[in-house]
This record gives sequence, structure tokens and C-alpha cells, in this order.
Amino acid sequence: MKLTTVILAAGKGTRMRSAMPKILHKIANRSLLEHVYDMSRELDNNEIKIIYGHGGNQVLETLKHLEAEWTEQKEQLGTGHAVQQVQSQIADDAIVLILYGDVPLLKLNTVQKLLEGAKESLSLLTVTLANPSGYGRIVRNEQNKVVKIVEEKDADVSQKMINEVNTGILAVRGGLLKTWLSRLENNNAQKEYYLTDVIEMAVNDGFEIVTSQPASEDEVLGVNNRMQLAHLERVYQKEQAEKMMAEGVTLADPARFEVRGYVDKLGIDIEIDINVILEGAISIGNNVKIGANSIIKNAVIHDDVEILPNCIIEDAEVGRGSRVGPFARLRPQALLADNVHIGNFVEIKKSKIATGSKVNHLSYIGDSVIGSHVNIGAGTITCNYDGVNKFQTIIGDNAFIGSNSQLVAPVSIGNNATIGAGSTITKDTPDGQLTLARAKQISIASWQRPVKKEK
Ligand code: UD1
Ligand code: CA
Repeated sequence: MKLTTVILAAGKGTRMRSAMPKILHKIANRSLLEHVYDMSRELDNNEIKIIYGHGGNQVLETLKHLEAEWTEQKEQLGTGHAVQQVQSQIADDAIVLILYGDVPLLKLNTVQKLLEGAKESLSLLTVTLANPSGYGRIVRNEQNKVVKIVEEKDADVSQKMINEVNTGILAVRGGLLKTWLSRLENNNAQKEYYLTDVIEMAVNDGFEIVTSQPASEDEVLGVNNRMQLAHLERVYQKEQAEKMMAEGVTLADPARFEVRGYVDKLGIDIEIDINVILEGAISIGNNVKIGANSIIKNAVIHDDVEILPNCIIEDAEVGRGSRVGPFARLRPQALLADNVHIGNFVEIKKSKIATGSKVNHLSYIGDSVIGSHVNIGAGTITCNYDGVNKFQTIIGDNAFIGSNSQLVAPVSIGNNATIGAGSTITKDTPDGQLTLARAKQISIASWQRPVKKEK
């Protein structure tokens, strides 16, 4: 079955009160339109067409990488008019699926069910709402068959009492849709070309409308203002949290945990404390503990790792059995091997740290290669930057760097070397020796402490 998905995304979104087009607003750090796109991509043999309009340049600039055909609707004259923009590109034998760019949480299985109904007729996704106001109402006859959709603004008092509403999402064969689209008129309350008018045309042409419903009404809720955006963010996050718990993750509080990306690999017996944010592509092994208020982005965390509270980890890898934090920052290309300890107020950037090494307090390690079982004392700094270029620091296995040392790169510290506390090391140091680079300590016996002068 050949499928053409048309995503309507030209509307203005006035009630967002935003300089940014509505469909670029985000849920879980991904635009509304991309949520719709991602779901559509799961459908087989599908070509995606996006109707854009309002804020067109900004939309294209942000999303032109999507594999879709973009068509501009210069004036927004209604949902029917929007689909008319691409009707010449639609094959007669294709099934056309209409989606809205501002309805982000629609589920694949709901759409698959809808598409089943489109093989023979026009298939419509409807939902029954306690408060249907604002929506087009589904009008049925005595045999309970759909006869038409009436927009709220065109509805009479009794039609306004109908609780079954149009989600706007429908599917139908291309050839049929095109015939009906060519007959649309705008003689209605809003002077718009309503896509919903094709329902009555289909009925008049002898088709029985097939209807289906989503599992939850949240699937078909659109975003018109920032309250609705926040509501759908919560719905989305609750789903992610439940999915993770079902896979063996303990969440201290599912309402205070956010996933803003993709969890590629997830082990079991992971414990995640409150206010943790997982962003981008994440992989977490078994038996991992993540402390409160940590942000982990594009990272690989291996088995038995403990991340203490308030850590920020980005584009980094943490080896099995390692311990990080509290208050540590792993920046891009921080690669920790097994059983590494990174303590509080330590920043690691573009550095490899081999098995069993420790950087426990207040250090900056950048552009470094650190061997195994190295101990880096408190306050050690790799001076990797001369203001223009970056240089590398290499530290051999079993080295011991005394506290408050500065290692001025490029520099290399030998295996089993010891650096005396407070040293500023500017030259390579040999294996196995103690190297000191600091002023000699003196005491002055005759020294008198100054006394306050009489005025
Ligand atoms: C539409 C339906 C209504 C349904 C409701 C569900 C029509 C006539 N009415 O109403 O029955 O209950 O959706 O939310 O179809 N758009 C364009 N170009 C346009 C107009 C709209 O791309 O010229 C896009 C919007 O960006 C939006 C979608 O189509 O994504 C729906 O438009 P909107 O104005 O929200 O439709 P409603 O009047 O709410
Ligand atoms: Ca709407």
C-alpha cells in the first residue's frame, strides 16, 4: 500500500504569543512537527509532505533536514485549502493520511488502525470529549452512520450538544480525495475551505464513513497555547517514565524525571533519583545509580556506575564500576575507563582516564591522557591553553600528583612519578622520581609582626 502523509503545519498559532511559529515549540526538546514526523516515519512505504506557511523561513531553516517535501501555503484559507496545495502531487491509488503538525502525541497504532479503514472508504479519527467546544462535531443519522462534520462556528444549538468531535486526522484514497477537494467551497461562517466538507461529499457519493478512536484523548490534543504545551509535555514524560519503569528502572519520583531524547540501551536495576534529566542519545548499563539533579546528555554509562547528585555529563563515557560526583562535570570526550573516581568540583574535558585512577577534588583535567591507578591530588590543574592553542598532558601509570599542582602542557609525567604538592611543572618528568617545582620554604627568626601605629 502506497502512502502519502500530508502534515498540515501552516497555521499561525496566535494564542502561543510567540515570535516563533507554533510547530517549532518543543516537547521533550523536540519540535511539535518533528514528533509528528517521527511517528510518520514509522509507517511503511510512506512519502511525507509538509504544508508550511506561517513563519515559513524560520520553519524551513530549522527543519529542512527532514526527509519530506515542503510546500508553502502562502495564505491560510482553511484546512481544505491547505491540502489542495499538494493535490496535484498525490497519486490516485495512494492512501492519503492527513495529520496536524501541532498534534504531537498521536500514536502509530492509532494511525495504523485508521489506515485499515481507508482501503475501502474515508476513514476518520474521532474522539468523544466531555467538553467538545471549539471542535467540529460528528453528525450521525438514526442508523448511527456519519453524515457530516459541522464546525463549532456553523453548528446549531442541538449540534453543539454532540460530544463526538473531529480530530482532523483522516485517511482516504488519493483519487477520491482529489475529486472532493476540487468541489470545496468557502460559504461558511469562517469563509474558509474546510477539509471537513469532504465527509458529506463522500456520504453523498455513497461511501460509508469508517470511524476509529485513539486509546487516549491526549493522543489527539493539539497545542494552541502554552498551557496545552505544558500539559502534553507532562503526558509525554509520564509515558517515558512508565516505559522505563516497565524495563526495570526505579524512579524516585516519575513526576520529577525527564527524558529529552532517546534511551538507546537500558540495563536493569537502575536507580534514578529526583530531578534527573536524560538528553539526547543515552545508554545505561545494569546496576547504575544516578543521583538527584544530574543532567546526562549523549552519554554511555556502563554497569555498576554510581553518579552522585548534581553532576553534568555530556558526550562522555563512564566505565564500569566508576564513581562520579557529587558536583562533577564531564564535558565532551571525557572517557573514563573502569573503576575511575571523579570527585566533587572536578571538570574533565577531552581526556582519557585509565582504570582505577582518581581525581577526587577540585581539579581541571583537559586534553589529557591519564594512565591507570593514577592519583591526582586536590586542586590539580592541567594548563592546556596558552590563549590560542590547546596542548596535551600525558600522565603515566601509577603517578601521584601532589595537591595544587599545575601541569603546563605540553608536558608528560612518567610512570610511578610523584609530583610534590604545589608544583608548577613545565618540563617532562622522569619515571619513578619525585619532582618538585616550587620555592623553597624559609622561616625568618628575627621577623617582627607589625604593630598598629598610635595616631
Ligand atoms: C479543525 C477542524 C475541526 C477539528 C479541529 C481539530 C476543519 C475545518 N476543522 O478545526 O473539525 O475539530 O481541527 O483540532 O478542518 N492549517 C493549515 N492551513 C490552513 C488552516 C489550518 O495548515 O489554512 C493547519 C493548522 O496549522 C493546524 C491544522 O491545520 O495544524 C488545523 O487548523 P486549525 O485552525 O487549528 O483548525 P480548527 O479550526 O481548530
Ligand atoms: Ca485547532
